[in-house]
Amino acid sequence: MVAALEFVAVSKIYRGFGARQLQALNDFSLRVEPGEIFGFLGPNGAGKSTAIHLAMGFMRPTSGYGRMLGTPFGNARTRRRVGFLAENVALYHRRAERLVRFYGALSGMGGPSLSKRSREVLELVGLESQSNRNVGKFSRGMLQRTGCAQALVNDPELLILDEPTSALDPLARVAVRELLLHSRAQGKTIFLSSHLLSEVELICDRVAVINRGQVVRLGRTADLLHCADRIKISARHISAQSFEESSEENGVVTFSVPAGSERATLERVWNLGGEIVSVNPLRRSLEDIFVEATSAPVSMDQGMVQ
Ligand SMILES: Nc1ncnc2c1ncn2[C@@H]1O[C@H](COP(=O)(O)OP(=O)(O)OP(=O)(O)O)[C@@H](O)[C@H]1O
Ligand SMILES: [Mg+2]
Repeated sequence: MVAALEFVAVSKIYRGFGARQLQALNDFSLRVEPGEIFGFLGPNGAGKSTAIHLAMGFMRPTSGYGRMLGTPFGNARTRRRVGFLAENVALYHRRAERLVRFYGALSGMGGPSLSKRSREVLELVGLESQSNRNVGKFSRGMLQRTGCAQALVNDPELLILDEPTSALDPLARVAVRELLLHSRAQGKTIFLSSHLLSEVELICDRVAVINRGQVVRLGRTADLLHCADRIKISARHISAQSFEESSEENGVVTFSVPAGSERATLERVWNLGGEIVSVNPLRRSLEDIFVEATSAPVSMDQGMVQ
């Protein structure tokens, strides 16, 4: 199957003044399958936006290559089948509806169907009542909503979103989440860079964590969160001191033990006069995984080659 997005051994070195160079991506490889919502995570400066800009063809890799919907990065015809939202939404100062129509026209759309679609996408992001206002006067969240609308106008097969919800209020976030799930149900692919890990956890089928320009964790979200080798046990009527690294809330003591030792632990709880409340595989949060994968101290000088 043709990948929706594919990076093959991509490196990107930014050249600064004199001999200063910064390696933003280092032998970076990643494959995003059609029809998935893919979470692209990493600390500030990890190389996420760089990877996205390379995919969009805004610049070229120093080495390596990549494909978007089966064609090499930078293909203008493929670009028309893709929706893109930049991390810092910078839009021409025009009325919102005109602006969205302008982006639709860039993707080869036109006529009454474009006008209809522009109104539709502005409605989808909750901006229908603002569509005649100049975006130059918009708030940050309204700009981000407009950015989402322009990314959707051409009904793209692949949506590339660089932190699409960072400025959105909770209601708008829920709306964007539903919109992304709806797009997936229609068979579209979504490549989503975000620092909002709880949202990523909710909607992404797979995630990659990158650090210093390389993939340091990759997997199905459910598999990463499921920690098969530890069991979480909650019990009542026991002292929190009886078990290491336990926590207590409303009289319920919770701790985890290695898988395989749960039977012996349950017996110990009963022998202490305790009562078991629950026994479950330990689930970790995406934040735990992110911190673990990227915990090497990060210096803002990282990647400096010279
Ligand atoms: N145009 C540029 N010229 C020189 N260096 C750049 C340029 N763009 C990015 N960089 C550097 O490349 C590295 C990766 O930056 P990038 O913007 O890709 O990170 P990011 O993962 O998107 O971070 P954030 O989470 O903060 O958005 C950083 O060290 C950054 O300073
Ligand atoms: Mg970025």
